[in-house]
Amino acid sequence: MKARKIKDNIYWMGFVDWDNRLFDSLIPLPDGTSYNAFLIKGSEKTVLIDTVETHQSGELLNQLSDIPKLDYLVSLHAEQDHSGSIPQILAKYPEVKLVTSLKAKEMLMDLLSISEESFLTVSDGEILHLGDKTLEFIYTPWVHWPETMVAYLREDKILFSCDFFGSHIATTDLYVTDEARVYEAAKRYYAEIMMPFKKVIKKNMDKIGSYDISIIAPSHGPMYPRPSFIIDAYKDWVEGPVKNMVVLPYISMHGSTKKMVDFLVSSLAEKGIRVEQFNLAVTDIGKLAIALVDAGTIVIGTPTVLMGPHPNVIYGAYLANALRPKAKFLSIIGSYGWGGKTVEILAGMIPNLDVEVIEPVLCKGLPSEADYKALEILAESIAKKHKEQGFK
Ligand code: FEO
Repeated sequence: MKARKIKDNIYWMGFVDWDNRLFDSLIPLPDGTSYNAFLIKGSEKTVLIDTVETHQSGELLNQLSDIPKLDYLVSLHAEQDHSGSIPQILAKYPEVKLVTSLKAKEMLMDLLSISEESFLTVSDGEILHLGDKTLEFIYTPWVHWPETMVAYLREDKILFSCDFFGSHIATTDLYVTDEARVYEAAKRYYAEIMMPFKKVIKKNMDKIGSYDISIIAPSHGPMYPRPSFIIDAYKDWVEGPVKNMVVLPYISMHGSTKKMVDFLVSSLAEKGIRVEQFNLAVTDIGKLAIALVDAGTIVIGTPTVLMGPHPNVIYGAYLANALRPKAKFLSIIGSYGWGGKTVEILAGMIPNLDVEVIEPVLCKGLPSEADYKALEILAESIAKKHKEQGFK
């Protein structure tokens, strides 16, 4: 795709990846993604903000083919999806200065073997004068690595936010046109990338709150011409109350755990609690991550395999622990054949979750009447706790 004009002397560049379905060999991409770079031509200096993956560098170099001189290359974030083509840009423009945070400099030297003399480090709040335009750098750590910063173009009121506020969508739209679609994608992105750092993100939100922003230009997905749309969504995800909702990731091998799941889901629904259940054998793990943003309670369903939880459930529990959702309660249900340490193993895997554990329900073989009674008591207990907490 060719470079596209955003405003006079400000251009979108980068790569729209329609086909990629797995990011970082980990994160599902149902709608592909984009890697956005931005060119700003000041009256005196020209700057490129971020690059693309190494193997996408040809597209970016083509977009830069009629740019004879580049004064600054800004790297807001050292991860290779934005920094991977820095070496190619440095090769094309040997005089360019690579502008980074102090931490990003160290990381880029390690990750891409960039030599020290290429760098111009900027501190929090520092300004880069481009002539008739002014670029201000704001340190915003942990969106999504510790070195990340954003850049604010004062005259045009554009916030270049890199991963912050991003969404994985491949589109020809420069700007958000369908807010509902982007809300879902941005929430998925927040859940998978940002949620573990929500306390720091709140500080970053407060920090950028004092800026007059007309456009947010992330490095994944379309730009936001109505910044309050994504800022308000982030406020809700980061610090809003959890909902009257249970997330139930599970696996069943021979049907016993599934019978327990079906019973519990039905009982919770009868009590007015919304349930999102995810069969970990087939689910899109990003959907589970989205649900974890809002859930008041997590219930894990697993059979016992070789004395412990099913491996897919171990993966799900590891993920939930890493993502640090806001859930307040957790329980475990499942079936076993002759014994095991399923509850102890799972309980030991979630130290990051600040949850009260509600009495698990494990049954031997098929669930009996007594087991269904225990599941009913579990549902009642969850409903009572949600009511006490005022979950809506
Ligand atoms: Fe889009 Fe953390 O890289």
